[in-house]
Amino acid sequence: MSTLDDSQLARIIVERKLCTTNEVELVRTEVRDRIKKGEKIRFQEVLMEHGFITKSQVKRLGRVMDNDSMYRPAQQIPGYQVMNKVGQGAMAVVFKARQLSLDRLVAIKVLPKRLSDNPEFVDRFYREGRAAGALNHANIVQAFDVGESNGYHYFVMEFIDGQTVYDLLTPDKPMDEKEAIRIITHVAEALDHSHKQGLIHRDVKPKNIMITKEGAVKLADMGLAREVKDFETANAEAGRAYGTPYYISPEQIRGDINIDYRADIYSLGATFYHMVAGRVPFEGTTPTAVMQKHLKEQLDPADHINHSLSSGVGEIIEVMMAKNPDDRYPSTQELISDLQAVARGEAPLQARKRYDSGLLESLATSGEVIEDDGRANTKQSSNQLPIILGVLLAFSAVCNFVMLAILFSK
Ligand SMILES: Nc1ncnc2c1ncn2[C@@H]1O[C@H](COP(=O)(O)OP(=O)(O)OP(=O)(O)O)[C@@H](O)[C@H]1O
Ligand SMILES: [Mg+2]
Repeated sequence: MSTLDDSQLARIIVERKLCTTNEVELVRTEVRDRIKKGEKIRFQEVLMEHGFITKSQVKRLGRVMDNDSMYRPAQQIPGYQVMNKVGQGAMAVVFKARQLSLDRLVAIKVLPKRLSDNPEFVDRFYREGRAAGALNHANIVQAFDVGESNGYHYFVMEFIDGQTVYDLLTPDKPMDEKEAIRIITHVAEALDHSHKQGLIHRDVKPKNIMITKEGAVKLADMGLAREVKDFETANAEAGRAYGTPYYISPEQIRGDINIDYRADIYSLGATFYHMVAGRVPFEGTTPTAVMQKHLKEQLDPADHINHSLSSGVGEIIEVMMAKNPDDRYPSTQELISDLQAVARGEAPLQARKRYDSGLLESLATSGEVIEDDGRANTKQSSNQLPIILGVLLAFSAVCNFVMLAILFSK
């Protein structure tokens, strides 16, 4: 019997509806955090702890894998020499390969054979190819080809030699602020380009942002992208929450059919938050609990979690993550201009405008004011000083008067 690796196990249990991708994601994060804290724990053990799977199911699934040729990487795709597997997500496996005609390295995303029988999956897979193919930008993973061979659907793209932002994140250890601003600015530029073509990403998250060895930033996976005007798709997807719970926008959770580019601004804000605060904006033990918080709970400003963070970054994230899309940046251009300002050490004027117009009043908690430099400060000591001095003066005057009265009475 073959031994299941974690990513194989994750995919097969999702396919068999033993748990959702969101639940797998939460378990993966928990495993990663526990390992980083020194615990020797395995993915399948945490799945069992949460009751998603039993020991005998793990054994049975191992036997299933032996009979599924998809999980053997020796894929035959004409024109490409498939090398090794570089990654695996909820829906597909990604291989490194060489495109023989142009003698260049590429990444090939292959849909499992089992899922090829599912028209919804196949359709989504081709949509990713078409959406990405329409885009050409230095900060977007370039799509090269899409096709089918031996019943396997595949998508060929630029090979990124590097890591995802998810790989760079360490629990409770915020990323360097300047580097985070640089990465988010590039992703915002990628989104600005795709939004101008009428495409929304809908799944912006640390795993979909890749950093090359030279430091270039590339937004991957237009997998859930669709054209803004595609009401048919929107209707078909209505009421279903797509996306990963830690970064998903409130309107996607609600299953609104009129999702627009501002959903990407929210998810990018949640990603930014994770990078600079060292933790996700809303934590919870189940995907539902996390999503409830996206809908209802007030955000702890990132600069209140990481005190060394500049308040400008905290303000930008609050505007990006406003619950109501109308309160967010009206376009990625305004967001980029604020990110550039903060990188220069200046105030984020576009965010200020949102605060000044009162749209984000609810974000300023009682006892706090937004001062000139934009930092939310409690202003007790400076305002109370004259009162304290006055009381002391009055007290000493009364004491003097009493002492004089005692002296004269003698
Ligand atoms: N163009 C690429 N070049 C190199 N590696 C890639 C490329 N695209 C994806 N990968 C790797 O493959 C992994 C799987 O990618 P995939 O998009 O299938 O899933 P994901 O984004 O990690 O997760 P999910 O399915 O939950 O969205 C990525 O995490 C990344 O490490
Ligand atoms: Mg991806």
